[in-house]
Amino acid sequence: MCRAVLLLVVFSLSCPAAEALDNGLALTPTMGWLHWERFMCNINCDKDPDNCISEKLYMQMADVMVKEGWKDAGYEYVCIDDCWPSHDRDAKGRLQADPRRFPGGIKKLADYVHSKGLKLGIYGDVGKNTCAGYPGSLGYYEVDAQTFADWGVDLLKFDGCYMNWTLLGEGYVNMSKALNKTGKSILYSCEWPLYEWPYQKVRSVCQTKACHHFVVLRWSSTLTT
Ligand SMILES: *[C@@H]1O[C@H](CO)[C@@H](O)[C@H](O)[C@H]1NC(C)=O
Ligand SMILES: *[C@@H]1O[C@H](CO)[C@@H](O)[C@H](O)[C@H]1NC(C)=O
Ligand SMILES: *[C@@H]1O[C@H](CO)[C@@H](O)[C@H](O)[C@H]1NC(C)=O
Repeated sequence: MCRAVLLLVVFSLSCPAAEALDNGLALTPTMGWLHWERFMCNINCDKDPDNCISEKLYMQMADVMVKEGWKDAGYEYVCIDDCWPSHDRDAKGRLQADPRRFPGGIKKLADYVHSKGLKLGIYGDVGKNTCAGYPGSLGYYEVDAQTFADWGVDLLKFDGCYMNWTLLGEGYVNMSKALNKTGKSILYSCEWPLYEWPYQKVRSVCQTKACHHFVVLRWSSTLTT
C-alpha cells in the first residue's frame, strides 16, 4: 500500500473559437491529471519506488482514475511532466525515456493508458533543455513531434526554459506545425503565455493555454500496489 495524492488540473477554454488552432481537439475543456504538483522531479526510484517518476506511477494513476470514478466524471488525460527522458537521445537523435524508470518505454505506457480508455500526455521544451535539464526540442521539433506521434501520445505540454526569448514564439509556432505535420491529432498545451503574452498568436498556435483558467483539485488516495 502507498499513499498518493492525486492532482487534477482542469483547463478551460472560454474564448470564441474563431482563429483558434484547429486539430479537432479541445473543443471542450481538457481535464486530466498532471504529475508535477505532487511528484515533481523525484527520480530516486531506489529509495522511493512508490513516488518516483516511472512508468509504474502513471499506470497506477490510470488505474486510480478508472477505479475511483474520475474517468466517468470526465477526467481523460494522464499527463507526464518533466524528468521522464534519458539525458541522451538515441542514435537517430530521438528522445527516449529513462531506461531504468521506464523499462517498457513510452509506447507501451501509452498502450496501457489507452487500454483503460484514457489518454497519455507527455512533456517537452521549446528550448535547448527542459526546465529540469533534460534534452529540449530546439533543433528537433519535427523529430520529437514524430516520435510522440509514433508512441501514440495524445497531448504535449511544451515548456519554455532554456530558450532565447526573441525566438520563443517562433519555436512554439514551429512545434505547432511539426505536430500538425505528423497527421496525428495531438493536443498542444503551451507554456508560452507564462513567458510572454502575444495573445492572438498564442491562440492560433496552441490550445489549452490559449485563453485559460485553472481549477486545481487535490485529494488523497490509497493505492494498492
Ligand atoms: C492540420 O492543420 C489543418 C489546418 O488548420 C487542419 O485542418 C488539420 O486538421 C490539422 N491536422 C492535424 C493532424 O492536426
Ligand atoms: C537570440 O536570437 C537573436 C535573433 O536570432 C540573436 O540576435 C541573439 O544574438 C540571440 N541571443 C542569444 C543570447 O543567443
Ligand atoms: C522555425 O522554422 C523556420 C522555417 O523552417 C526556421 O527558419 C527557423 O529557424 C525556425 N525557428 C526555430 C526557433 O526553430
